[in-house]
Amino acid sequence: MIYAQILAGGKGTRMGNVPMPKQFLTLAGKPILIHTVEKFVLESRFDAILVVCPADWLSHTQDLIKKYISDERVHVVTGGSERNETLMKGIDYIQENYGSHDDDIVVTHDAVRPFITQRIINDNIEAALEHPAVDTVVPAIDTIVQGTEGKIDDIPVRSTMYQGQTPQSFNIKTLVESYNALTDAQKETLSDSCKICLLAGQEVTLVRGENYNFKITTPYDLRVASALVETRD
Ligand code: CTP
Repeated sequence: MIYAQILAGGKGTRMGNVPMPKQFLTLAGKPILIHTVEKFVLESRFDAILVVCPADWLSHTQDLIKKYISDERVHVVTGGSERNETLMKGIDYIQENYGSHDDDIVVTHDAVRPFITQRIINDNIEAALEHPAVDTVVPAIDTIVQGTEGKIDDIPVRSTMYQGQTPQSFNIKTLVESYNALTDAQKETLSDSCKICLLAGQEVTLVRGENYNFKITTPYDLRVASALVETRD
């Protein structure tokens, strides 16, 4: 089975003083989350598409899905306080409702990257059917400088540097086994899902993203996203 999980369980604190988590803010007339879900329902190979949201926003999210999306594969599920907890709550839902099979895969995506394309989704599915874990990246444009306490520790060779995006896609069995092998401290501090598999010694395959598949994080990003939608219409 092939699943999609749209991670919409965050609070969006870096968006500043807004009345709701950023995934529910309006972009070109509809919530950012809806733009993202619309891209996923276009892919017919998904058996189920989960939208994992904050507990306090469950009924709001259900209402939005009812209003904008008429696709019975979409299910709204409650997330957790950390991003990986949200991810694993979605996996629990999948295993409780659909069982578990060795070749099940999941394509996980940030709700706040509404400019994902069908090409990126397709490449993730194809790669996850072949490999245990997949990350979507774009080559670093700026030189990456690593430093602590105001001083440079290293300047890695730029041609081997990438910026991580989503989707991140996994063989579900590998993901669950890798997550269960983490210590509680690792579970609390790990913000990147592919790192769960890396720490477990799994190979993570790279898929090419797009610069416009950026994450809406700050008010500036929301302005850029609005401008992008306007110029595309
Ligand atoms: N996310 C999630 N569950 C969490 C935290 C984050 O599903 N407990 C999701 C967010 O909703 C978002 C994606 O992960 O779609 C990327 O995370 P980020 O941009 O860091 O979102 P927030 O945690 O909401 O933002 P901030 O760090 O500014 O509070």
